[in-house]
Amino acid sequence: MTEPSSKAEIPSDLSAWWMPFTANRQFKGAPRLLVSAKDMHYTSHDGRQILDGSAGLWCVNAGHCREPIVKAIQEQAATLDFGPAFQMGHPKAFEAASRIAALAPGDLDHVFFSNSGSEAVDTALKIAIAYHRARGDAGRTRLIGRERGYHGVGFGGISVGGLSNNRRSFGPLLPGVDHLPHTHDPKNAFSKGQPKHGEELADGLERIVATHDASTIAAVIVEPIAGSTGVLIPPVGYLQRLRSLCDKHGILLIFDEVITGFGRLGAPFAASYFGVQPDMITAAKGLTSGTVPMGATIVRKGVHDTFMQGPAAAIELFHGYTYSAHPLACAAALATLDVYRDEGLFENAKKLSPAWEEAVHGLRGAPNVVDLRNLGLVAGVELAPRDGAPGARGYEVFVRCYQEGLLVRVTGDIIALSPPLIVNQAQITEMFGILRRAIDSVS
Ligand SMILES: Cc1ncc(COP(=O)(O)O)c(C=O)c1O
Repeated sequence: MTEPSSKAEIPSDLSAWWMPFTANRQFKGAPRLLVSAKDMHYTSHDGRQILDGSAGLWCVNAGHCREPIVKAIQEQAATLDFGPAFQMGHPKAFEAASRIAALAPGDLDHVFFSNSGSEAVDTALKIAIAYHRARGDAGRTRLIGRERGYHGVGFGGISVGGLSNNRRSFGPLLPGVDHLPHTHDPKNAFSKGQPKHGEELADGLERIVATHDASTIAAVIVEPIAGSTGVLIPPVGYLQRLRSLCDKHGILLIFDEVITGFGRLGAPFAASYFGVQPDMITAAKGLTSGTVPMGATIVRKGVHDTFMQGPAAAIELFHGYTYSAHPLACAAALATLDVYRDEGLFENAKKLSPAWEEAVHGLRGAPNVVDLRNLGLVAGVELAPRDGAPGARGYEVFVRCYQEGLLVRVTGDIIALSPPLIVNQAQITEMFGILRRAIDSVS
């Protein structure tokens, strides 16, 4: 393995790359570049070690540049760089699908590959509508998301998503979409783990059913933990109630597990953690530990089998991507799943969750902290917005953390933490020490 480089020049021209979800002009005035990474740390362009408090973007669950994963990708690139997935296959695609299906709870036995969380979501929404049609119930086309939900940036994902910044510039979006109420309730402030109040918010589905009739509704999609909106933990009983309402009305339930999948809560999926069986799970990120882009839509047997009833020579689902089951992604996924298993990383996340919770709630009383939320190895630290400048305080804390050697994620005034699952107690202590000092230093 090559040694991580310690420093790098900033490229002289930063103008051509239109950066995603970034204040481009502000960033290019004071760039933050990462040049290498190993295990729990990034190295910045100015040669500093940055502790990764956010697993990159919630994805590097196995830690950075892990040797077995790097090796598997290198070998795959030299063996089979690409193979079409339409009417063709390669062994690792089938192996990866079987491994994912074996990890997923219940009869979530079939896996459709894509290249991102956004594509996994759009795939799930399309399968939901096509499933009802295939069983002769073509009137079920309506899709139900949730306020404050994030399901990526495809037109399907932003339509069922509930973040206005991501929606308002892009026209009318998909027709026939409605939203459940979000689950944030200030009564639950500073809850440790799952909050007590709010199970009944699932009944928002009854109101939507009353308005549109169940016979028009294909699916409900929710994040078991809403991540991008700033970490909203589901109230006790909420997901169970949503499941039973979906059952009552013949509606498919999709869990978007793009951030909760692959050990984030100390279990393979949030569905396993909460003991609630969805009809589909969408996953990405931790599937390859962020090394190669890959998305997966994991589908229950009954839904899949509904498509398998016409003539055997007929294509059952007119959907797919050039890079579905890309060989490099499959090799990365298999090696990543081996690392999770061999190093017991989901168990490590579970074991550290109580210490994590204690560290998170140690921030209680820090200036401007108005709520603290946690579950598994996830934390949300909510700061009061500065008068007339929402988001400014959160951004300053993010920059200060980076300067002091910690990468966190910020949405508005909420700081989110979700470290690689190889994290240890000393690193947790260090993380919250830096964060506390950053919060203290920002008025
Ligand atoms: C719950 C959820 N769904 C979908 C996505 C979109 O994934 P991607 O950015 O890989 O398209 C994300 C990304 O953060 C996510 O958190």
